[in-house]
Amino acid sequence: MVDDTDPKGTKQKASRRDFLKAGLLSGAAVAASAGAARAAGEPLITEIQDWNRYLGDGVDVAPYGTPSEFEAHVVRRDVPWLTADPVSSINFTPLHELDGIITPNGLCFERHHGGTAVINPADHRLMIHGLVDTPLVFTMEDLKRFPRENRVYFLECAANGGMEWRGSQLNGCQFTHGMIHCVVYTGVPLRYLLEEAGVKTTGKWLLAEGADSAAMTRSIPMEKALDDCLVAFKMNGEALRPEQGYPLRLCVPGWEGNMWVKWLRRLEVGDEPWAQREETSKYTDLLANGKARRHTFMMEVKSVITSPSPQVPVTHGKGPLVISGLAWSGGGTISRVDVTIDGGRTWQPARIDGPSLPKALHRFYLDINWDGSEMLLQSRAMDDQGLVQPTKNELRAARGENSIYHNNGIQTWHVNNDGVVENVEVS
Ligand code: MTE
Ligand code: CO
Repeated sequence: MVDDTDPKGTKQKASRRDFLKAGLLSGAAVAASAGAARAAGEPLITEIQDWNRYLGDGVDVAPYGTPSEFEAHVVRRDVPWLTADPVSSINFTPLHELDGIITPNGLCFERHHGGTAVINPADHRLMIHGLVDTPLVFTMEDLKRFPRENRVYFLECAANGGMEWRGSQLNGCQFTHGMIHCVVYTGVPLRYLLEEAGVKTTGKWLLAEGADSAAMTRSIPMEKALDDCLVAFKMNGEALRPEQGYPLRLCVPGWEGNMWVKWLRRLEVGDEPWAQREETSKYTDLLANGKARRHTFMMEVKSVITSPSPQVPVTHGKGPLVISGLAWSGGGTISRVDVTIDGGRTWQPARIDGPSLPKALHRFYLDINWDGSEMLLQSRAMDDQGLVQPTKNELRAARGENSIYHNNGIQTWHVNNDGVVENVEVS
């Protein structure tokens, strides 16, 4: 709409604002009328409750705080048939219960191949060797004397959603999408350590190795190592949790979680990739023609509606409903998320709220007035590189059905008239 009498476009803005206000008012009006009905004789208001009558706990009760007892259901969970043995297994972040973009430390999903190593930081060493001028061994104290940075990044396991390649299976976004977390890391840029050792001109790749019993090892291109990788010792302000690699882990922003070596003990500089187990028989994508695609490092643009979802159905009936979800891209920031409530016939732009940081989770909302009829909810993310999240069928057409890893297809939740939510696929 062009209005010559309004060069600054204020009229246009005002009309959009009015529209938003009208939308919010109708939602608030419904909520207010429910509130008014309750106020008539609400004992929780008219009678003094125990928590109001008696003293609470003192400051000596919880030197390290834990969540309210009423949040005890908000925990990492596993899928029993995926857990052959807990030391080589996975549990999932309860995305459906979280909001904002930061994952609390105790809820970050865990994936380890040989259990959680327990390492006294005084005994931890990081070695850099191979094609370098000066091989070096750092203590934790040495590392903490380098200039450090704070960065918010998501970490997504390449196998996130892997169980859904051939159709919908698991009933809950915790299980379909919960191999992801997003925290603020404090650490030393890896390039400072590599500069200290002096990488020879022939040094094109880096092998990162963990100090756990799995001694997990991955090859990383030198270009990435010198770009934005971090050697991190803190998450969300406090020391890394043991299960996240205490005392030291590698951050490889935007790239598959398997490369983020925990309990980092060794970095070897070489002239070519190593072809370790985790980059050959695992974490490669078997295509329809029987060939395996390797080195698919970047996690592509993806999103999911976290609420409503199977574990958090709509319990309040029709009226105002907050649809909420997460979007992310290993390529950069999220520029746009569209949401459909009718299985993709019509799409509406969602509102991204909170920080929009590269290679971090983004939180989006769509505030609707639910008329109580069934819905097919989907979200579709786009990133600042112009990449658009594909449908599952588009993915299968491109990659066949043998894959496990790198499933960034659009997720569908079916919501019935009672608000019950189920994992489905639309064709
Ligand atoms: N590093 C070591 N040393 N050992 C491991 O088993 N698992 C990897 C990676 N780094 C692993 C590791 C995999 S597959 C993933 S997805 C991430 O760590 C999981 O990180 P998290 O446990 O912090 O969620
Ligand atoms: Co993984």
